[in-house]
Amino acid sequence: MKIKNRISISDLAAMKSRGEKWAMLTSYEQMTAEIFDEAEIPVLLVGDSAGNNFFGEVDTIPVTVDQLLPLARAVVNSTSRAMVVADFPFGSYESGADAALATGIRFFKEAKVHAVKLEGGAKVLPQIKKLIEAGIPVMGHLGLTPQSVHALGGFKVQGRGEDGARILADAKALEAAGVFAIVLELVPEELAEQISRELSIPTIGIGAGAKCDAQVLVWTDLMGITKSAPKLAKAYRNLRLEMLNAAKEFAAEVSTGQFPGPEQTFH
Ligand code: KIV
Repeated sequence: MKIKNRISISDLAAMKSRGEKWAMLTSYEQMTAEIFDEAEIPVLLVGDSAGNNFFGEVDTIPVTVDQLLPLARAVVNSTSRAMVVADFPFGSYESGADAALATGIRFFKEAKVHAVKLEGGAKVLPQIKKLIEAGIPVMGHLGLTPQSVHALGGFKVQGRGEDGARILADAKALEAAGVFAIVLELVPEELAEQISRELSIPTIGIGAGAKCDAQVLVWTDLMGITKSAPKLAKAYRNLRLEMLNAAKEFAAEVSTGQFPGPEQTFH
């Protein structure tokens, strides 16, 4: 049997100790997973952002474990190098450590992912400890945690002023509990820099400035497909326009009889 060498949590720790920055991208299906794996993106996140980038919801809250499982399995099946991390959807871990373990076991067995991510600080420590005890690596997520967007009063920068101490304390508690990396979303650059400096595990920024150990983007934002991308994102291409034009050209060629041409025709 061929053993595939995927990026592991020790590789990510070694990259932090060497000061090497790395990129994480979301992926929700086969094609992007194949492409990003070929691009040697070390970590692919099957994010609950599938809610508003795959399932047509307005945010991440309605997504379920049953919806994310087949997406995560497709990403694992379509990659050979990347570590694949599955996001815990809202409602699948908040009630306690046993619920979190049950969700983790489903993602490990049914989707074959290599790690899981869940949102929150001190209040989810029992869940994190239980997962790690069971051998499931956990990525944390602090700052703007989109599943709590209504409690937080909207998509606002978190951790400004005195609130920064709370996020720093949460980050340290998560590290002590054994998480292997922490996403920092929408926090001031100075706070992200302090957390990155004081923690020995990698921080992964999104809207957290340039001082984090890694950066993550939602792939549809990166490629310019999202209709209205958040300010924290950068579009490296305009695939929305490319795809729109390709679809229009195809329809026009069908209506004029140019497609199919001789190359696509069999006799
Ligand atoms: O679901 C997601 O895409 C995320 C990233 C923004 C980190 O959690």
